[in-house]
Amino acid sequence: MIKQRLLAPGPVEVPPAVLEALARPVVHHRSPAFVELFLAVRRRLAEVMLVPGEEVLVVTGSGTAGFEASLLAAVPAGGRVLSLHAGKFGERWAAMARRFGLRVVELSAPWGSTFDPDRVRDELRRSGPFDAITTTHSETSTGVLHDVEAIASVAREAAPDALLLVDAVTSLAAAELRPRAWGLDVVVSGSQKGLMVPPGLAFAYLSERAWQRSDALASEGALIGSYYLDLRKERARQREGQTAATPAVSLVAGLDVALRLLLEEGVDAVWRRREALNEALLASGEAVGLARYAVRPSPAVAALTTPNGIAAPDVIRRLAAVGIRIGAGQDEAKPRLLRPSVLGWADRFDVVTLAAALEDALRDLGRDVAFGAATAAALRSLAS
Ligand SMILES: Cc1ncc(COP(=O)(O)O)c(C=O)c1O
Repeated sequence: MIKQRLLAPGPVEVPPAVLEALARPVVHHRSPAFVELFLAVRRRLAEVMLVPGEEVLVVTGSGTAGFEASLLAAVPAGGRVLSLHAGKFGERWAAMARRFGLRVVELSAPWGSTFDPDRVRDELRRSGPFDAITTTHSETSTGVLHDVEAIASVAREAAPDALLLVDAVTSLAAAELRPRAWGLDVVVSGSQKGLMVPPGLAFAYLSERAWQRSDALASEGALIGSYYLDLRKERARQREGQTAATPAVSLVAGLDVALRLLLEEGVDAVWRRREALNEALLASGEAVGLARYAVRPSPAVAALTTPNGIAAPDVIRRLAAVGIRIGAGQDEAKPRLLRPSVLGWADRFDVVTLAAALEDALRDLGRDVAFGAATAAALRSLAS
């Protein structure tokens, strides 16, 4: 028997209390019990996002559905979008915008690096005006945490009318994220990452300014529109504890428990814990010859490259053989990148286990790795 461990940057392991809620009898979505549950979940979600009292909408679908719904709610047909990307997910938003016929200007940075705010400012001035700017906070494909606060500040100065749409799929409840204080217009996330719920729910926060834009565009008939992913229709229904179509009621019940757990710990404490665990994971990798890939690491994922002569897929296969599933590199990063993560229901002993398994895998592949090298580094990092 091999114990399975899910240590990838989503989906993640789910706390037993959440699993228990998922297994409860299904409630009817038009019942008073669901209305009460859903209103409480929306309230707590806004607290976890640090936008208490504001609208956070729940979409049944993965994070991508939340991004698509937001783009359709906030950007006019034929509008102009500046897409900032330095990884797979940032690139995805450019592709999505183009798919809807939006006019996209792309500003990229190499994978593993981040954007220079001065370059963003120059591009906004040179190629503007834009209706929207899309960016990714925690770029899961590279493990980089982009400085969204700095990007927002530059955007406000150089393109005050452009809405800033932020992918916070792996940064919510993992990295410091302050939509109000930073002036973010749209923030999108998903259930299967830092919120520790199975995949299937997306979340979208729109600022007051974003809603005003959406309302104005709708009254001019300027939105592209979608029947299902219609945040304006959802806003009206969700204020009453309802959704336009049948929601994933069991996932909402699980989310309720997960949000309570996060709020009990405190959002700041969750950020600190996850950062410390991720840092220990990075330290353990470095101790056995792996190298950090991200210039500014996201707490959601420990992006580590393998040394010369060691193929990342071989390490991943060896970990899988002992029941440990981590993230693989994507596209250009596939041959050398490992993306383990302790974003889910994980603690320091998960880090130590992963460190030990990494040692084993590298020894199997012929590296001269001392027993305890990675685990000692992890424990030292956690003790500091
Ligand atoms: C940063 C980021 N954005 C977007 C997505 C896409 O989310 P989903 O697969 O839930 O649609 C992911 C998924 O891993 C992600 O990590």
